[in-house]
Amino acid sequence: MSDVHVAVLAAGKGTRMKSARPKVLHRVGGLPMIDYVLAAASTLAPRRLVVVIGHEAAAVRQALASRPGLSFVVQEPQLGTAHALLAAESAFEGASGTLLLLSGDVPLLSPDTLRQLVDRHRSADAAATVLTTVVDQPYGYGRVVRTGRQITRIVEERDADPTEKAIREINAGIYAFALDGLFDALRSVASGNAQRERYLPDLVAIYRREGRGVETVTETNPDSVRGINSRVELADASRILRARKNAELMANGVTLEDPATAYIGASVQIGCDTIVHPGVTIAGRTVIGESCEIHSGVFIADSRIGNGVVVHDHSHIVESAIEDGAAVGPFARLRPKTELRTGARIGNFVEVKGSVVGAGSKALHLAYLGDTTVGERVNIGAGTITCNYDGERKHTTVIEDGAFIGTDSQLVAPVTIGKGAYVGTGTTVRTDVPPGALAVSAGKQRNIEDWVARKKGRR
Ligand code: UD1
Ligand code: MG
Repeated sequence: MSDVHVAVLAAGKGTRMKSARPKVLHRVGGLPMIDYVLAAASTLAPRRLVVVIGHEAAAVRQALASRPGLSFVVQEPQLGTAHALLAAESAFEGASGTLLLLSGDVPLLSPDTLRQLVDRHRSADAAATVLTTVVDQPYGYGRVVRTGRQITRIVEERDADPTEKAIREINAGIYAFALDGLFDALRSVASGNAQRERYLPDLVAIYRREGRGVETVTETNPDSVRGINSRVELADASRILRARKNAELMANGVTLEDPATAYIGASVQIGCDTIVHPGVTIAGRTVIGESCEIHSGVFIADSRIGNGVVVHDHSHIVESAIEDGAAVGPFARLRPKTELRTGARIGNFVEVKGSVVGAGSKALHLAYLGDTTVGERVNIGAGTITCNYDGERKHTTVIEDGAFIGTDSQLVAPVTIGKGAYVGTGTTVRTDVPPGALAVSAGKQRNIEDWVARKKGRR
């Protein structure tokens, strides 16, 4: 949208959160709540995007450092929302047009709503346009007071009389302002209220007195303009986000056996006919293909999973890539940079890190593969351990196609097991095994006859 500028208020302490962390950095659905506000603002391609920071300013600035096109102003001390916007005056020097004012603690609002707000503001040629909504429980919000259909002022919870407290139309804390005259008007906002703060919503009454136009846009979905001021509201917002994501996934053909316990991040993609069992967390930039089955208690983050993959219960998968038809778990752990090729199988109590497991290869019980390249059709027996760390450095292991590693073996890296080679049970492999060879390291077994009886006789 042309000639739109955005300011985001994020300087407040968030007293009701009871937290050392600034409120806008508390996470909703896995991301700091202010991220959602900035993402929605960015869809309008604003000319300037200014964040007002104050309480724990350095932490907020640092958390947003990687976002391009942001500028910051500091409000110190924090004397209320009108005072906060006034602190941004210099950042809008010479700007004209519309200023969209967003609150860092209202993360669920949609870009469409913002667009409607700005459109309405412009078509009405208003000085201010307030986003409102009607809720069942207005407690805590500023109430919208109207005379006839016209908004006349906004009264905060603490300053409202019983009649005003009964009003269910609330101020969402999102506004469009004409930049023309805005900062002069802000200077006239007083602090004669219960909190001794300079309230931004007071601009409504000021503009009305001056005969300037004030409009409202009413959001029909109150959930999307929820402000977060407490931990309960934080949890509510996460729940709403999850419900939205779940609905989108199910509409696209994903089965969620129990949506109430499916924790699926906003950027996760899942293909159709994949089934997600109860109590699963899928986070970050994970992409899962079609017809997979993700069993209970599984955690997956930032991973790429192909089609027809089965992840059995309680497996933990981070930054890994799993190709079609592979199977993992139960109780398996795939750490970063694990790649499982087509049809590979990783079973219970197997840990894999920084390794490639080739097509059709399997490690099904109690093994550790670190910094290892496993070829195709390799069998890794129960209890196999790659000894990849010598106390100072990590070393790599190579297991070539068709090799067979007997149970309870240790492969001391750097080491290579050649194509089709066998490693006997209980072998400690310290040097390369040539293709087709059998490696054994245990000594010959000795049986000592009557040892038990003699031992007992000594007592
Ligand atoms: C505010 C509105 C209220 C509205 C509600 C919607 C005021 C006075 N009240 O109340 O009408 O219904 O939002 O969610 O505006 N902030 C600063 N500097 C300050 C104070 C606050 O930057 O000095 C920031 C906060 O970090 C927050 C936002 O402004 O992101 C809103 O402040 P908050 O204290 O949460 O206001 P509410 O009581 O929720
Ligand atoms: Mg708030």
